Parts: sequence; structure tokens; C-alpha cells
Amino acid sequence: MAFAENFLWGGAIAANQAEGGVLEGGRGLSNVDLIPHGEDRLAVIKGELKMFDFDDLHFYPGVNAIDMYHHYLDDIRLFAEMGFKTFRLSISWARIFPKGDELEPNEEGLLFYEKLFKEMRKYNIEPLVTLAHFEIPMHLVKEYGSWRNRKVIDFFCRYAETVFKRYKGLVKYWLTVNEINILLHGSFMGAGLYFEPSENKTHVKYQAAHNQLVASSRATKIAHEIDPENKIGCMLAAGVHYPYSCHPQDYWATIERDHHEYFFTDVQARGYYPSYALKFFEREHIDLHAEPSDFDDLKHTVDFVSFSYYCSRTISGVEGHGELNPGNLLQSTKNEYLASSQWGWQIDPLGLRSTLNVMYDRYQKPLFIVENGLGAIDEPDANGYVEDDYRIDYLRSHIAAMKDAVEIDGVDLIGYTTWGCIDLVSAGTGQMSKRYGFIYVDLDDAGQGSLKRTPKKSFYWYKKVIASNGEDL
Ligand code: BG6
Repeated sequence: MAFAENFLWGGAIAANQAEGGVLEGGRGLSNVDLIPHGEDRLAVIKGELKMFDFDDLHFYPGVNAIDMYHHYLDDIRLFAEMGFKTFRLSISWARIFPKGDELEPNEEGLLFYEKLFKEMRKYNIEPLVTLAHFEIPMHLVKEYGSWRNRKVIDFFCRYAETVFKRYKGLVKYWLTVNEINILLHGSFMGAGLYFEPSENKTHVKYQAAHNQLVASSRATKIAHEIDPENKIGCMLAAGVHYPYSCHPQDYWATIERDHHEYFFTDVQARGYYPSYALKFFEREHIDLHAEPSDFDDLKHTVDFVSFSYYCSRTISGVEGHGELNPGNLLQSTKNEYLASSQWGWQIDPLGLRSTLNVMYDRYQKPLFIVENGLGAIDEPDANGYVEDDYRIDYLRSHIAAMKDAVEIDGVDLIGYTTWGCIDLVSAGTGQMSKRYGFIYVDLDDAGQGSLKRTPKKSFYWYKKVIASNGEDL
């Protein structure tokens, strides 16, 4: 058998894409609540268009999302029926500290997650909890400039300490910041950063990155002090990089791209800034506002390294080599050997095996795949049932590749959670029609629908995969 007896099979969601109820339970507003559906979305995600309050011109799909806030009992029951060993979700920071800088948390918010975790435990589902999945309270964005401000390190740590203490014994697996490298590509979504036209974006981004890295390592230290049983992970938007050709400049561009993306996990897994990053700061005149103690804090490294994998990325360093691949925040060149999803994301199961090998070689720490899946248009029948063989094919080939990485290559992999195990709002596009789930949710791109949940064909397939511990694909 390839996978250990206690391998953590499951699925993943994020509060901002599933929970809804943003105006309920004393919750404050978050950056992600204000990212609208439609043509302005990308500019807001990147921090180029200011959206600090709701307006009447846009639709904000995260406000109600799939309303897991009121449906969580039914949703967890369905996950249990599939046999989930783990369920990854995020806590909405603004539900616990509505403004972010209060001294006391919001009890109603704490109670909501306590009930949710207890419900999961009832079914022996291990919670895997992200502290910041693209979320920061809007008050911290408006009043402090979000993560560019060092004070946010303390606010984040107060939030982290509060939930570590409250959920001690209920939650053991934690991720500090989701897809931490998205800060570079979608800065408002990833880190609440909006740029004034006069600002040097690179300087702001790396200052914010430093603050997030320090906050993440301090939270790791706090988590271990509160409960030595806690396991803390970092989380990267991953996907192996291929050079477009064997032209040395294509290969060099690939190495540079590796440095760009792995920078974050290099710090979180090794405990110090890599030399290539220090040289980059020098060249770019990035003078980090840091305290000497920050570098001691960074030594508190993570227990495991987690990542999302949807596709590999092809990198070109020669002008005219390849055409740009559409549809993803992390830009790449089209790979002519690979098919693409309906959103242009290239499908590459072997790339997952390569990614696992590259990351295990690099860090020698247990790995956890916390997102993988296919966003596709589903056509339900009159009963809401979807025959999603395309999704089953995608997942089957990726699970087979990860099995090879474990069985043949000896990678230490502790779990696998598919993305959007229940249909939810797409982070990139704000659509409901870009569906990832095993469970169909009756809701359209305009927020209309009954919210009825219906298991798809893939629901029964994944149940069988889990029951056989990955043997019956
Ligand atoms: C990751 C995020 O970027 O990919 C998720 O952590 C996101 O929040 C997922 O939903 C899939 O991307 P998209 O744009 O299809 O929702």
C-alpha cells in the first residue's frame, strides 16, 4: 500500500469563498468581501483599483457565497459520508477580531468555529485550519495600510494566539498564510495591499512579505508553546517550472522564477533569508524595515510544507519564445504538450509528481497537498445531479502521480485535500460556474439559486478512493 494508514484524505475550502454571512455574528469586513465579480475584479485583486467600500455598481459574490455559515451541519455530514479524514477550512480573521486591532475577541465568532470543529470531531474529521486565506480585516487595510505596516504582525499574532488557545485539543494542523506568494501577483487579495500610483510596488510588496514571514514564524513559535502537539505548515501556490526550451536563457529564467516563488517557503522552512534574496534586495535598493529580533523569530520554522497544485508552468527567457498562457494570476508560457482546462489552466499530472520531488528535495520536511482540482462547467440534470467524468479523470491521474511520488520516489506526503470539495466562489474570477466540487450547489454567477446541495458522480468515486486508501482509483 502506497499511503500510510493515517494518510489525511479530504477536501478544502476557504471562508471567503464559502462561508458568506459576512454581516452576521458581529463579523467585521475583510478585504476579500470587497472584491467584485466582473471586469474590474482583476484590477482590484492586484491592488490597482481601490475598492474600500461596497458600491451599487458591482456584485460581491463573497458576501453570501454558498452560505456555509448556515449550512455547515449538512455540509460536514456530506464530507463525512465521503469518508473525509480531514477537512481544510480557514477562519475568517474579521469574525474573531472584527476590526483587527481590538484587545478582546468577538465571542460569537469564536463560538461559531468551536461548534464547527466539534461537529467535525463528531465524525473523526481532523480540522486543517488556515489562519489567513486571502483575508485581513478591512479596518487594518484602511487605517494601517495592511501588511506593509509592522503593527499588523502583532495584530496577527494576537489573533493566532487567541485561536490556538481556544481550539487547543480541537485543532492540531494549522497553516499560517494561504498561497503566501500570491502577495506578489494579486497583492490586494493576497495581502490587502492597495498601491498609490507614486509608490514603488516592489518595495511595498517585499516589506509586506517580510512582515508576513515574521508574523508566520512568531505564530509558529506561539502555537508550539501553547500545545507541543500542534503542527504548523506554510502554504505555497506551487507548480513545477519548465524551461520553454533548452536555450540557456530559458533555463536561467526558470531558475529566477524558482527563486521568485520559492523565496517564501525557503524562509519558512529554513529559517533565514536565502542569499539570492539578500542580493536581490541590494540590487533593488529594498531597505527592509526590520528589527534585529525578527531574524530570531524567523528561526521558528514550520513542521510541514503544504502547497496547492493545479498546473505546471512553462517559463521563457528569450523574446519570441512561446505565447502567453491565459487564465492564471501566475503568468507563464503556453506548453504545447499539455491540454488545458476551460479556463486555460494546463493539465499536467506528472507535473505534480515533479513538484513533490522538487519540494521534498529542497526542504526534506513532510509535504501536504492542500489544494488540487479542476475548475469546470457542470451541466446538472433536472435533479441537480452531475456526471462529472472529466473531474474524475483529472483527479484520478493526479492521485496516481502523487502515489508514484510516494511509492517510487520516497516522498514523505502526509495528506491530500482537493480544492473546493463543495462548489464555491472562484477566487480568481468570482464565478460560481467555475466549479470544483464533489457536491453541486445550486447557485449561479449572479448569486441566484436555491443553494441546494447535490452529490455529483465524483462524490461516489472519491468515497471509494478514500475507503481503499488510494488503491481503487
Ligand atoms: C488557489 C486559492 O489560488 O486556487 C483558492 O488558494 C482558489 O482560494 C483556487 O479558489 C482555485 O483558483 P480559482 O481562481 O479557480 O478559484
